[in-house]
Order: sequence, then C-alpha cells, then structure tokens
Amino acid sequence: METLTRPALRVRGLSVSFGEIPAVRHVDLEVPRGELVALLGESGSGKSVTARAVVGLAGAGARVSADEILLGDTDLRAASPREFETLRGARMSLVLQDALSALNPVLTIGDQLGELFRVHNGASRRVARERAAELLGLVGIPAPRSRIGDYPHQFSGGMRQRILIAMAIALEPELLIADEPTTALDVTVQAQILELLASLREQLDMGVLLITHDLAVVSEVADRLAVMYAGRIVEAGDAGTVLAHPAHPYTEALLRSVPRLAQRGGDLFTIPGSPPNPSVVPDGCPFHPRCHRAVEVCATVRPEPLASGGRTVACHQSEVMLGVHSG
Ligand SMILES: Nc1ncnc2c1ncn2[C@@H]1O[C@H](COP(=O)(O)OP(=O)(O)O)[C@@H](O)[C@H]1O
Ligand SMILES: [Mg+2]
Repeated sequence: METLTRPALRVRGLSVSFGEIPAVRHVDLEVPRGELVALLGESGSGKSVTARAVVGLAGAGARVSADEILLGDTDLRAASPREFETLRGARMSLVLQDALSALNPVLTIGDQLGELFRVHNGASRRVARERAAELLGLVGIPAPRSRIGDYPHQFSGGMRQRILIAMAIALEPELLIADEPTTALDVTVQAQILELLASLREQLDMGVLLITHDLAVVSEVADRLAVMYAGRIVEAGDAGTVLAHPAHPYTEALLRSVPRLAQRGGDLFTIPGSPPNPSVVPDGCPFHPRCHRAVEVCATVRPEPLASGGRTVACHQSEVMLGVHSG
C-alpha cells in the first residue's frame, strides 16, 4: 500500500479474533487528515470490529494484534486502557448510529456538551455554554442559543445525530470514526449528515473514517474507499478511481447493487449467496463462491493484496477486469 502524507490514522496488519473466530485479518488502513475514507462491506465483514479495535474498545473477549496502529505519531498498540480513555474524545472519537441511547435523557444538550469543555479544558460554566452553542451552530442546529436548554427527546432523530457529532468533534480530534451514523435516519437526512461530516473534515482538518454498507451515500463525499470482505480489505484506493473502474468483483457487485450507481439501463444486481461468515471462510479467495468472475485458481489460492495505479486490490482477475474497462 502506498504511504500517504499526514495520516490521522495508520493501521498495518491489524487482526482481531474472538476465540476461534478471526473477525478481522491483516487489515491495512490509512486515513489522512482532511480526508474522508469510506469503509464498505456487507454486514458481518468486520467493519465495526476494526473501528472498535482502533479506539481501544474491542472488548474483553477480543485478541488484537497489529504491526502498527498510529494516531498521528502516537503508537496506540502501547496505550493502556487509561491512556485510551484520555485519547478518546480529545484526539479520536467514535460516533455510533444510535443517537438516542448515546445521549443522556435527563441532561440538557447544553450541559452535556458544556461538560466536555469543563472537564477537558477547565472552562467556566459560562464559557462552556458559549462553546456548546457555537458547536451546535457548527453542526447545523438552527437557532443554537435557544436550544441549549433543551433535552434530547425535544430534537428529531437527524438533529440528535448532529448533536452526537457535535460531542464527538467538541475537542477537535484529529480522527473521527463514524460507524453507520445514518442507518436509523431517512434518506434525505442521511445525505445531510454525510455532507456535514464531509464539510467538517475540511473545516477541522480531521481524518474521517465513515463506515457504511451503502455505497450510494458515500459516492459523493468520500476521498478514498476501502472495501472489506470476510475480515479483509479486498480493494482500497482513490474513490474516483475505484468507483469508475472497480478492480475487485466484490466492489463491482456492490456498485451494481446500488440503483443510483448502476449503469443506466443495466439490470440491478443482487450479490448471490450469503454474506461472509468469519467462522466458515472458504479456501482460496473468500469471495469465490459468490463471484461470477471466478476461475479455477480462485478456489485454491488466496490472492494477496497488490498495489497498482492508486489502489490496492486482492483478486486473481483484477488485471482482466481493468483490461476490460480500459480496452
Ligand atoms: N464480541 C464478539 N464476539 C464474537 N464474535 C464477534 C464479536 N463482535 C463481532 N463478532 C463477529 O465478527 C464479525 C464481524 O463483525 P462486525 O465487525 O460487527 O461486522 P460489520 O460491522 O462489518 O457488520 C461478525 O461475524 C461478528 O459475528
Ligand atoms: Mg457494524
């Protein structure tokens, strides 16, 4: 994989297993500051486990190993649980999809946001409230000064998700990981939240790792894509390059399963077979039983990730695929 300048996050060879189940295997991932990287893949491919391992929340039953996990210059492999607690919020944040349960129902929004500034920055009550109102404005809450005394249930789902994002960026972290942050929201609101994340990455010069199973929603906002299947990154690279010419049949299949991105006039495609299950991964390429481009070697030899032309891809047929597209 190519080395990028100014990485907010740099992961090399991350593996996570739960007992006998290898949920994540040898994952390389890089999120530059000021860029949005979309991590894609069907349910069960290992996206959330990857995210949780990075921020130190893999859980007691997880065995995590990596050659490198760097947050800026900080080696996260050496971080203790206490150090992780300090780093989370201040230098990296994880936003989850369930905004209602992540907010405290008995505290006002102003108090929950203000608390962050009081605890981490020692701000006075008045300054903390002022900063809280500024943040609400930054994430697109209308009339923020009149809303800081309101409770979570007084906001819509989309507005609550904005408030969660406000809390995640309050201390200006260099890395924001959003794990399916829009799944519970309607389509229009989803697009607005993604636009918010995209604009914040520039305003705050923050690396954003956006986890989603929906390619349509990221095609407009992602700088880079990483596609995960059965615990591995199967294709990664510049978003424009990968979207225009996918080099892995799984990426191609994901693209063809999205109405807005499918070729005009082409049939909408459903990926055959079952989504990946890390406890029963087939020999050879893990995707081969579902792959319409599979040849004999795919059933026996697992393709290694190879870098070329601004992307990394692990597929025996990728040259054929790219040849077909460019010729
Ligand atoms: N705490 C856990 N214990 C055992 N297996 C787990 C645990 N968490 C996740 N897994 C397994 O790891 C795989 C990847 O899960 P996950 O990262 O949540 O997938 P995704 O987010 O891509 O949908 C799944 O098969 C899941 O069952
Ligand atoms: Mg998940």
